[in-house]
Amino acid sequence: MSARFEELDWRRTPIGLVSLRRRWDRTLDREVHEIKLDDEFLMSDLFTVAEVELARLGLAASSAAELDVVVGGLGLGYTAHAALADPRVRSLHVVESLGEVIEWHRRGLLPLGAELTADPRTRLVHGDFFAMADSGTGFDVEQPRRRFHAVLLDIDHSPKHVLDQSHAGFYEVEGLRRLAGQLRPGGVFALWSDDPPQEEVTAALAEVFATVRSHVVTFDNPYTGGRSANTVYTAVLE
Ligand SMILES: C[S@@+](CC[C@H](N)C(=O)[O-])C[C@H]1O[C@@H](n2cnc3c(N)ncnc32)[C@H](O)[C@@H]1O
Repeated sequence: MSARFEELDWRRTPIGLVSLRRRWDRTLDREVHEIKLDDEFLMSDLFTVAEVELARLGLAASSAAELDVVVGGLGLGYTAHAALADPRVRSLHVVESLGEVIEWHRRGLLPLGAELTADPRTRLVHGDFFAMADSGTGFDVEQPRRRFHAVLLDIDHSPKHVLDQSHAGFYEVEGLRRLAGQLRPGGVFALWSDDPPQEEVTAALAEVFATVRSHVVTFDNPYTGGRSANTVYTAVLE
């Protein structure tokens, strides 16, 4: 068993003090990594079932034989790691706005960091996913206007509960149309949400994509003694 609590790194950033810590969680009986912004929890690997399902369900919706994939939001790397498990994936661009998170993966301070960064298919891109989705250049600055087979997004709590109000327009029809412009024909957009499936979200997706599904992903929550749920939307272009 590791020490009960250890602060692995902390940084002053323009948005506040960002820190990485690991602790032994008695309820789960395993080590947990957490990233905090000042006193608020930004993310943790307490529950990662739906993050993994985001990759699995998103890539399963594509019929392409080889896949160029974008993940929006690196976080603790579970979605990116699960995407790499699909042998069809030939390239993976992971866009992350916090340089510290990328660095912690590169230094192997996070459990999946060594594997993610050693995989020659992976590019960790320091940038704003929403600005890139909206731009003419797109997600690959080395190959401007490159189109992708799939974009897997887990940044906001949900399309209606965004981290920053500037993200809200992305989830409207016009924003989704611009994202679709970054995809190949038959391309897939998959989206993680902390909320139950929302009619407004599926309706906006259906304006742009030919096939839209919402999947409720449930998992055991030892803290409540019950089951918790997240939603994964998958949307496929014609
Ligand atoms: C919930 S976490 C992603 C968790 C990830 N799916 C996993 O499996 O661990 C969201 C991530 O998005 C990053 N982020 C926030 N705003 C962003 C933006 N505008 N562009 C890119 N990344 C952003 C956060 O720093 C954080 O690392």
